[in-house]
Amino acid sequence: MMMAYWPAIVRRNGLSEGGVRMPSNFVARGAEAYDGYMGRWSQRLAPLFLDFAGLVAGERVLDVGCGTGNLSFAICAREEVASVEAVDFEPLFVEAVRERATNGKITARQGDACDLPFADGQFDRALSMLVLHFVSDPQQAVAEMRRVVRADGMAAATTWDGFGGMPILRLFWDTATAIEPGAVTRRDATLLRAMTQPGELREAFERSGFVHVTETMLTVRMDFTDFDDYWRPMMAGQGTHPEFFAGLPDQTRERIEAAVRAAYLCGRPDGRRSFVSVAWAVRGIVPEAK
Ligand SMILES: C[S@@+](CC[C@H](N)C(=O)[O-])C[C@H]1O[C@@H](n2cnc3c(N)ncnc32)[C@H](O)[C@@H]1O
Repeated sequence: MMMAYWPAIVRRNGLSEGGVRMPSNFVARGAEAYDGYMGRWSQRLAPLFLDFAGLVAGERVLDVGCGTGNLSFAICAREEVASVEAVDFEPLFVEAVRERATNGKITARQGDACDLPFADGQFDRALSMLVLHFVSDPQQAVAEMRRVVRADGMAAATTWDGFGGMPILRLFWDTATAIEPGAVTRRDATLLRAMTQPGELREAFERSGFVHVTETMLTVRMDFTDFDDYWRPMMAGQGTHPEFFAGLPDQTRERIEAAVRAAYLCGRPDGRRSFVSVAWAVRGIVPEAK
């Protein structure tokens, strides 16, 4: 039985609109859809990222591309920071963070990672989780993180390794391309976004003048109770796949869904499956002489 799909994107930032370059190429469908699909995994990634990026009581922290606030809330749960400024391009997410932020430490605002609405050296630490691969000019976003962090402060970022470390996306896209050749361009663009390949984050941080730059891998498991738990949030959540899928003829959708289901089941009864996913993470220090 085919499920009903979201017929259209509620809001699409897009790479360009009427010829104007947009700061974000992230496709958003609202806070609940995001958390049901990717937010549940970014909540798992956040503690690992904070272990790597560090955090000190009393710090003023910036969360670049806060989304629905998963990193901001993890920061507050871990340490008595002075404040968290949470910035995102997507107004629906900013609204969601404002509604959820009850501890008085988190301030959420709409803004562009490439043109941060903050003064030079205003923060002790700037963190960005799963954002730079959606920013139209990630090098500029890294430069902005450096600008707003004080000398000797730290910036850190993490992105999924879409090509080599995201089997949940591979399962869908590789299956779809075998059935529908029109999926190839979408797959390639999705799995090989900027800042998701080995060394790319490190190079971007070094190019922006950070010192003591360190890159590592963070791994989380993505666990699903059954095929529906894998498929439904993915088709309702953010990303290019739901839009692409919804635009296909019924018959093609049915074939793709059946083939993805078979790949998920792998010859066993429907039920729990678990995938390892890998994120790249980088951190760097702002040098004394800016
Ligand atoms: C995958 S979500 C990550 C959200 C959150 N950090 C998390 O880990 O749950 C990517 C976020 O980046 C934001 N984003 C993309 N481009 C941006 C830009 N130029 N400026 C600010 N936010 C941006 C999107 O709106 C979206 O909320």
